[in-house]
Amino acid sequence: MRIAFIGGGTMGGAMIRCLLSKKIVTPEDIVVSDVSQSRRDSIKRECGVKVLVNNKKAVKEADLVVLAVKPQELLQVMEGITNLAPQQVILSIVAGASLDVLCRGLNHHCIVRAMPNMPVQIGEGMIVWTVTNDVSQEQKGMAQSVLGALGEELYVEDEKYLDMATALSGSGPAYVFLFIEVLIDAGVHIGLPRSIARKLVIQTVIGSSVAVREMGKHPAELRSVVTSPGGTTTEALLQLERGGFRSVLLEAVTAAYSKSKHL
Ligand SMILES: NC(=O)c1ccc[n+]([C@@H]2O[C@H](COP(=O)([O-])OP(=O)(O)OC[C@H]3O[C@@H](n4cnc5c(N)ncnc54)[C@H](OP(=O)(O)O)[C@@H]3O)[C@@H](O)[C@H]2O)c1
Repeated sequence: MRIAFIGGGTMGGAMIRCLLSKKIVTPEDIVVSDVSQSRRDSIKRECGVKVLVNNKKAVKEADLVVLAVKPQELLQVMEGITNLAPQQVILSIVAGASLDVLCRGLNHHCIVRAMPNMPVQIGEGMIVWTVTNDVSQEQKGMAQSVLGALGEELYVEDEKYLDMATALSGSGPAYVFLFIEVLIDAGVHIGLPRSIARKLVIQTVIGSSVAVREMGKHPAELRSVVTSPGGTTTEALLQLERGGFRSVLLEAVTAAYSKSKHL
């Protein structure tokens, strides 16, 4: 499988590193086109892939073309690669760019739209994706092997779930980072050295996440197991309820969803 990346920045670079480390492709299978000389130099040095500054040339031989530029650069990029052959697959990770916008902008109908999140950078991403009707089973398999290298992938039939995924798993790492940051500060506030608070919080978040996944129980059931009658946890939970923790989180995700539909 030959892959062309248009944009070798944070996400493009991370995808390339994942694909190479999981041996989905070799450096010879990848070409990266990027306007930034420093990005081209660093990705070539680090990954040994071919780099170019010409998008049109880069897509020529590719089976899969990954669009990994910022949304404001997309239009210009699409206008520059209208030389696509019908069997070439476009995989866009550009936030807010719908299948319809991509089909019309590229005058091409074989498109995969994916919404990855930041932990893709360490191969622990959540990637939700969908395709146009013209994408064959074999091409879907190709996209799945690429996206699966970045973490956990989930195919959805209906594109509307991608806007929802943007608000939940796309923006989600920011919510979790804030939660972790504040918990560490809380540990420091009650007297723990910051390094100890950090270790305690990180393992607590990892352990709790894995418990929800592995034990197959509803989170509320697990929470009730760790909440002794009249104990310390219930005191803390009372304060979270008083502060509107649930409704604030529900409203935050709803606001992100509303914004993602209007991007
Ligand atoms: N970062 C995330 O966590 C995340 C999560 C989900 C989705 N996404 C999506 O991923 C996409 C890429 O984000 P990113 O954070 O990787 O951006 P980025 O780091 O800015 O990378 C984009 C790269 O493309 C280059 N570029 C700009 N115009 C170009 C052109 N016409 N032709 C070829 N290359 C061009 C940029 O060069 P310059 O820097 O010189 O402009 C930059 O090196 C975005 O659309 C974003 O919505 C990102």
